[in-house]
Amino acid sequence: METLRGIVVIIHLIGFAILFGAWAVEAFNRRMQVTRLMQIGLGIAGLAGLILAIPFGISYELNYVKLGVKLLILIVIGALLGIGQGRQKKTGSVPPAIFWSIGILTIANASIAVLWR
Ligand code: HEM
Repeated sequence: METLRGIVVIIHLIGFAILFGAWAVEAFNRRMQVTRLMQIGLGIAGLAGLILAIPFGISYELNYVKLGVKLLILIVIGALLGIGQGRQKKTGSVPPAIFWSIGILTIANASIAVLWR
């Protein structure tokens, strides 16, 4: 069970890497677009995160307040991706506040995961 949990954590981290990596590419290239890869990364991180919210393969209690906050932030990121994509289709660009919030909230969720015990 511990190994299975470890595998799901790795999948969770792959989702995070895809989401943040896709966002970083857009920021680095000054394109600031919302891409399909960001949505895929969010989906992978979200699905694996929900599985990790099940207490298996661990000997300690899960912090459900922390997990609730992470889920809320994930939903906000999802909404921003959706709104950003809509604006992009209409006007060709994503408002900077939406684009930067996606990256900042992704890092916020990773920071909560690591720092909030
Ligand atoms: C964009 C969204 C998310 C990001 C960037 C993210 C990031 C991370 C990172 C970096 C870790 C590793 C921390 C560590 O091992 O010290 C982690 C672990 C974890 N995440 Fe997330 N996460 C996200 C969403 C979620 C959601 C929605 C849930 C569940 C509601 C969740 C549940 C967990 C759990 C339970 C762990 C601990 C795994 C373990 O050690 O057993 N995550 N997350």
